[in-house]
Amino acid sequence: MAHINDNYLKLKAGYLFPEIGRRVRAFAEANPQAKVIRLGIGDVTRPLPPAILKAFHEAVDDLARVETFAGYGPEQGYDFLINTIIEKSYNPLGVTLKTSEMFISDGSKCDCANILDIFALDNVVAIGDPVYPVYNDTNVMIGRTGEADEKGYYKGIVYMPCNEANGFFPAYPKEKVDIIYLCFPNNPTGAVATKAQLKGWVDYALQNHAIILFDAAYEAFITEPGYPHSIYEIEGAKKCAVEFRSFSKTAGFTGVRCGLVVVPEELEGTTTNGEKYSVNKLWLRRQTTKFNGASYPVQKAAAAVYSAEGWQQTKEIIDYYMENARIIREGMKAAGLTVYGGVNAPYIWLKTPSGMSSWDFFDKLLTECNVVGTPGSGFGPSGEGFFRLSAFGNRDSVIEAVARIRQNLK
Ligand code: MLT
Repeated sequence: MAHINDNYLKLKAGYLFPEIGRRVRAFAEANPQAKVIRLGIGDVTRPLPPAILKAFHEAVDDLARVETFAGYGPEQGYDFLINTIIEKSYNPLGVTLKTSEMFISDGSKCDCANILDIFALDNVVAIGDPVYPVYNDTNVMIGRTGEADEKGYYKGIVYMPCNEANGFFPAYPKEKVDIIYLCFPNNPTGAVATKAQLKGWVDYALQNHAIILFDAAYEAFITEPGYPHSIYEIEGAKKCAVEFRSFSKTAGFTGVRCGLVVVPEELEGTTTNGEKYSVNKLWLRRQTTKFNGASYPVQKAAAAVYSAEGWQQTKEIIDYYMENARIIREGMKAAGLTVYGGVNAPYIWLKTPSGMSSWDFFDKLLTECNVVGTPGSGFGPSGEGFFRLSAFGNRDSVIEAVARIRQNLK
């Protein structure tokens, strides 16, 4: 009989969001009259903006004609998209990139997981706590860890607690680490990093020959000036950082699927023999073997995000979600809760009332208010006692959810 990868058996429970979905379905089945409002998973609700939809339709029509038909595209992504992103999204930040340094994909979740392919298992990985669960779980799946302890920390991973005391910004690990995950604006806490804070991490990584995996999936939701949208705004970052970006939340592509990874040519790791080797070359090798690129119509639609019309429409939707974030943040404060995030990120991170556990608060909101959020402990042990609300709902639902919670907590 074939042996399974029993690293999977070390995983504590189902993946967080399907687990929440399962509980909500069970509740809805038992209470069919309940009007459940979902502010749990960060899934977008606004439809694709017209300029993007038009480009999408036109690209599908291209597939209907011999002269414009597109089969396999470049595994790395079409130049028309890569060059547009560099010109419209990176150059205005003062960041120059070569076409060969960007890789288009079918989403950031897969990229965050797949990148582990090109790093040896004996690397020590540092992860924030709480954190987007994909970073942790994929390291468990690949076999980099031992079992979890009673708190939920896996042996072999260095956890960097992010809490009220440190402003949800991780301190440098005491032990030597090789790979560091950073996510800003942060999922789930909504914290955003300043340039000085990111510079600290870049300098740390350079001094310690570590690589930063920088998840910038929520950069478009930074509303205040002065915060870095890319780690490459920090000098030296091209020598120590990979950056992930996503069209999912920015442009409503959670169902369409498109993301990107930047792997600078200056970035190097070492072989077992201690020789330096280009990380960009390895990732290209990995992608050309294991991936055939995001689909042509999707890449055309993604490029349309950066047209003048496309960006204006996209920005209006981002503003819509950030207005939701304001409504949630202020509503939860008015309900007497301690609230973080929601200013430069589409997530509101709140402290549960009277020290309730995250899952107890989840059950309370589900059963008493029929509102779904995400228990903070699902993002890691330091998330216990916290709760995340997503700003990606419809305005009416958001207003209704806030009113129900305020009424309940009176
Ligand atoms: C979240 O709710 O944290 C995100 O939607 C998860 C994801 O982007 O995969």
